[in-house]
This record gives sequence, structure tokens and C-alpha cells, in this order.
Amino acid sequence: MTHFGNYEEVARNFSWAISEQELDYQPGQVINIGWYCSDRICQQGKADKVALIWEGFTGEKKIFTYNDIRVYSNTFARFITDLGIKAGERICLFMDRVPELYIGFLGILKTGCIVQPLFSAFGEESLFVRLENAETSAIFTQRKHVSKVRKIRDKLPHLKHIIIVDYDGKSPLQERELAFSMEKSEKVEHYEIYPTYAESPSVLHYTSGTTGMPKGVKHVHYSLISQYITAKWVLDLHDDDIYWCTADPGWVTGTSYGIIGPFSLGVTQCVLDSGFSAEAWYRFIEKNRVTVWYSAPTAIRSLMKAGDEIIKKFDLSSLRHLASVGEPLNPEAVNWSIRVFGKPFHDTYWQTETGCIVITNFPGMPVKPGSMGRPFPGITAVILDPNKHEPYPEPGRIGLIGLKPGWPSMMRTYWNNEEAYRNKFRNGWYLTGDRARMDQDGYIWFVGRDDDVINTGGHLVSPFEVESALLEHQAVAESAVVSKPDPINMEVVKAFVTLKPGFSASKDLELDIMNFIRKKLSPLAMPQEIEFVDSLPKTRSGKIMRRILHAREWGEEVGDTSTLENE
Ligand code: PRX
Repeated sequence: MTHFGNYEEVARNFSWAISEQELDYQPGQVINIGWYCSDRICQQGKADKVALIWEGFTGEKKIFTYNDIRVYSNTFARFITDLGIKAGERICLFMDRVPELYIGFLGILKTGCIVQPLFSAFGEESLFVRLENAETSAIFTQRKHVSKVRKIRDKLPHLKHIIIVDYDGKSPLQERELAFSMEKSEKVEHYEIYPTYAESPSVLHYTSGTTGMPKGVKHVHYSLISQYITAKWVLDLHDDDIYWCTADPGWVTGTSYGIIGPFSLGVTQCVLDSGFSAEAWYRFIEKNRVTVWYSAPTAIRSLMKAGDEIIKKFDLSSLRHLASVGEPLNPEAVNWSIRVFGKPFHDTYWQTETGCIVITNFPGMPVKPGSMGRPFPGITAVILDPNKHEPYPEPGRIGLIGLKPGWPSMMRTYWNNEEAYRNKFRNGWYLTGDRARMDQDGYIWFVGRDDDVINTGGHLVSPFEVESALLEHQAVAESAVVSKPDPINMEVVKAFVTLKPGFSASKDLELDIMNFIRKKLSPLAMPQEIEFVDSLPKTRSGKIMRRILHAREWGEEVGDTSTLENE
């Protein structure tokens, strides 16, 4: 039985109070995500239930019960409190997908501090701009990543503590560095959780925009109300499920549905901390008897590429419900999954800013392959006329996806950037920055982004951030970054570059520039190609027209070029 019955009926009777009641939360009371995801589950008699099955890239395995999660997150929290760090300060997690990342996340929330998860694959420049912007007080990291922190710490006066979670005593600790071992520290059975309330800040996730540096999306503890109920209804999580979310918690999917959703439901989840391989993934599902699987279109396309034969080598009969997020899910992928797994991937649409799934194909609802589905009850989603910012009265028109603000996990602001936040609203609608159309049945079909942000394999890349890194190279005069088509990632990053006098284009120079920016950016943001050009298309006011370069790459009409400088 799915939790979700008839869509119209559920939507009509829906109120967020349903989730509040299930969580025994009364408005005005203390609400702390760290407590809800560990202590409360233990109080419900599930202390010995397995919370986390973890497998490392070497095959190493660890298992944690809900009581382990409770005690170890307390241990983290006590360590942080003893350092003198106060509620509201930002603490970064800069680690691979090791257990400390999941448990540390909850520990930080228990102290009332704000958790800032960042991909361990980030280069020092990407790390620096995010730590500087958030004025982060402490960072938890691993030995293998600490060198990146050391390179930038002198430029980060707010960063008081650099904490290494796997220190082996071999090389001496440096300035501001500390060692902390979750498992070897004295266990903290009781920790007095900081009394956070609905509007107390919880998580700060950085997301890329077109202009300017990445923006810190501020979430609050009340976001739990949306994350809990969407995880339950959309991912169809039940008490006996074995759940696998393939996303890294550096990305919002990895926190909302890789930590908060499943743990607040007291579900068993598994984590595989290794890169992609079809064989390894199928083996992981077979071995752990995974029932609910939440992944992304890029991974699904890679699995499709690996072929159907390999699937026959594994017993994947445990799989009950499949869902996907991050980029358009092609109808081919849905049909393929019906063929090979006997069930479709259910598309889910949302953003770092929305904090929870807002449009989706619900379990039990007929899936229209290629459509993102319908709004989650309690979410009002409309297609806005891009000029008037008013909802189109009739279905079928392409416009902007607008959402009515007010659901619990809506971002509260962009960190230190109230202006960018205000800019996301028109006529009382929150603008997602995506274009879509709605059909007669109320299903929403994704069309594209309304800005220059690149979505490569589900990860948003700011053209501005890549252009800035390129400009730091001595040979680069100007740069423009757009996407180009790619069979697996749908789009990848391509850079156009003009050179300074005295430099000439060559394969060696391209390699040199690539190596230079690799240290600054995350692998996801790296251009697949650099094209040297004599000039870039610009408006008369000197703004680079990425739109024109983009259209060329995609073989599309270039459109209006009347503002082009050299027309
Ligand atoms: O463009 C949309 C795309 O990813 C953007 C949000 O990215 P991010 O904030 O990194 O969060 C991703 C995961 C929650 C959206 O504005 N996107 C996300 N889901 C879908 C999608 N595009 C098409 N179909 C989806 N299901």
C-alpha cells in the first residue's frame, strides 16, 4: 500500500499540520532536526534498529543503529560545545561520504550551529569563496582533504578550528588544527540539545547562480515538516524499507533525503562511498536488498549505457520504488526502467531553495514518461507568463514555473544577500528560474532553465565561477562559459577564451589552462573543451552574450541580435 491515495482527494484535504501531528510538534515548541533524527527514534523503541549501513570504496563496511547515531551525534555536539562555538555559528563539513559526515551533520544541528556541507571534491578556490561568504567558524575534514584548507586558511580569519576526523598522528598538526575521532572519543550518552525553534537556522547550502559567486541558501529547523512528509509520501518510505539515496550531502538531495527525511522516519538507509560503476551499484542493491532507490538521470543514463545483460547477473527483485531528481528524466529512461526493473523511475522536481520535493509523480499515480508530475499537496505551482508574471489561465503554454511561498522548507534568505533573495519574487510568486508547461491533467513538463546556469549531470555550475577561474590564468584576456550537448550528462561545460597579446592558441596552452583551473574548481565544473576565439559576442554595453554561443553549440536559432556590438 502506498501512503498516497487519490491525488485530488489528498490534495484537497492536505495541510502541513498532518506532518506536524505525526511528528508530535506543536507550533511554538522547540524543534531540532538532530533530535528528531536520532533521540526521538530511540524513544519510539527503535534504538537497536539499523539506521545506517555504510560501505567505503575499499569494501570496508560499518553499521550504525539509531542509538549509535544518537550517541555519536551527541559526541560531536559535546566536542563542538567544548570548543566554545556558539549557536548560530557556521560549521562546515568537508568530507567524503564517510559516517562522520552523516552523524556530524546531526551533531552540529544539536548544538544550534548552522551546518554547511560542501563537496569534498571542491578545489581550494570553490572552498574558499563559500567559507569566506559564510564566515565559517570551524571545518570538519579528513587527512586527504586538509591540504586544501591549509592553502586558504590565512585568508580566512573567521576559521578558528580545522578538525581532522581521521588523524593518525603521523604528521604533526598545524596551526588551528585539532584531531577528533567520533568512535574513539568518550561516548556522550546525554547531551542537552540547544533549544532551536521553527525559525532557527539549520542548514546552509551553496548553489550556483549566473552572475556573482554562489549563494548560500539558508534553511531553518521547521524545514523538517516538509522533508519528513515528502520523504514518506513521495519516496514511499515504510518502516521495513532499505533505502538508498545515491546523492552526496554536499548537494541538497543528500541532506533533505539522504539524512533528514529517512532518519526522521526511522528508516534503514545505506550509503556507498565510491564512484559510479554499474556493476558495483547493482551489487550494492543485491547485497543490501535495497527496496527504495533515489537517484539521478545521469546515473540512470550511465546504467542504460552499461546495457541490459549485466542486470541479469544480479538479483534486483528487492526494488519496490524508484525515484529520480536533478535534471530532466527522459521518457527513454522511464521506459527502460519499466523494461529492466519492471517499474518506472518516478521523477521529482525541486531545488536547493525549495528544500523539499515540490513537483512529482506520486507512487500510485499514473506516470507520464517525460513529465515531472504534479505539485505536492500544499504546494501551489503555476506557469507564469514571463512578461506579466501572472499565471496563464489556460494549460499548454510555456512559461516560468512559479511557486506560492510559504511551505515549511522554503529557503528563508540567501546568506548575506537579501537583494538576490528579493529578486526571486514577482507578484507574490517565487520564481524557480525554470521554464515548463502544464497539460490538461495538471502534469508539468520541464522545458529548460530561464538563465545561463549550466546543469551538468544534475549539478548546477555557475558560468561566472568558471569564467573567473579562467581569467586568473596569465594568458586569458576574456572568457565566456556555456553548455554543450553530451549523451550522458545532457550538458557539459564549454569555455570560449580570447588570449592576451603575446599568447597564441595551442593544445599545450589548453592543457596548461585546464591544469590551472582544475585546482580551483570542482571536477563537475571543469570545462570539457576550451575553444580559442578572436573575440566574444557582446552587447553594445559590453556584456558577453552567452546566449549566442549557447545557441551555436546546440544548433539552435540565435534569435534577436539587435543589441550585438558588432552587428
Ligand atoms: O533546473 C532545475 C533542475 O535543477 C535545478 C535545481 O538544482 P539544485 O538547486 O542543485 O537542486 C537539485 C536537486 C534538488 C532546478 O531549478 N532540476 C531539478 N529537478 C529536476 C530538474 N530539471 C528537470 N527535471 C527535474 N526533475
